[in-house]
Amino acid sequence: MIVLESERLLFRQHDTADVDAFCAMEMDAEVRRYVGGSPRSRDEAKRRFLEGPLQVSSDRLGVWATILKSTEQYVGRCGLYPHFRQSGGVVAGEATLSFYIAREYWGQGLASEAAGAFVEFGWKQLQLSRIVSTVQVGNGASVHILEKLGFDLIATEQGKQSFYKFMLQNPKHRKAER
Ligand SMILES: CC(C)(COP(=O)(O)OP(=O)(O)OC[C@H]1O[C@@H](n2cnc3c(N)ncnc32)[C@H](O)[C@@H]1OP(=O)(O)O)[C@@H](O)C(=O)NCCC(=O)NCCS
Repeated sequence: MIVLESERLLFRQHDTADVDAFCAMEMDAEVRRYVGGSPRSRDEAKRRFLEGPLQVSSDRLGVWATILKSTEQYVGRCGLYPHFRQSGGVVAGEATLSFYIAREYWGQGLASEAAGAFVEFGWKQLQLSRIVSTVQVGNGASVHILEKLGFDLIATEQGKQSFYKFMLQNPKHRKAER
């Protein structure tokens, strides 16, 4: 099922044929630098593909296979997944934005295009009130993409690895609050 399209991309459910492209990204140290740290082995990556968080729920919250329309190539995974509280449980009306692009496709504006499309999807199709995103400190490209979309930095979590928490409020809800 195709859930969404943007100018150059379409977003659909993952399929078993995506396994090699998915594993290649998980095995790439550059892709993993700010999202987990070390590359995964192929076995680990494959297990994650089969058992991991790629299933999309009926409310369309989840991470979608991201396909370049011009070549039909799998170029990453993007989407909005449920916003989980640290204490457990899901925050109603909110979602977390996620975007991963394979290294050979970096620098072409694809993550920006995907992120922008999912923000619009979050407001118009899912009627979300807020979208959040967590980015490891140092991941300058991701910070830049979120800032371009108008996200605000709301917290920095210090730890062995430090993370920025970003938030964007639905502009319609913002107007209604005034
Ligand atoms: C982060 C990532 C999604 C970016 O994908 P991409 O398709 O190359 O991104 P885009 O081309 O849309 O945009 C990148 C922007 O950041 C800028 N940028 C790149 N490196 C940067 C850096 N170190 N610091 C600041 N800005 C940077 C680019 O110039 C570009 O800006 P522009 O749109 O104003 O020209 C990709 O590198 C990736 O998948 N990384 C691994 C997974 C990951 O970190 N995901 C995000 C988890 S929060």
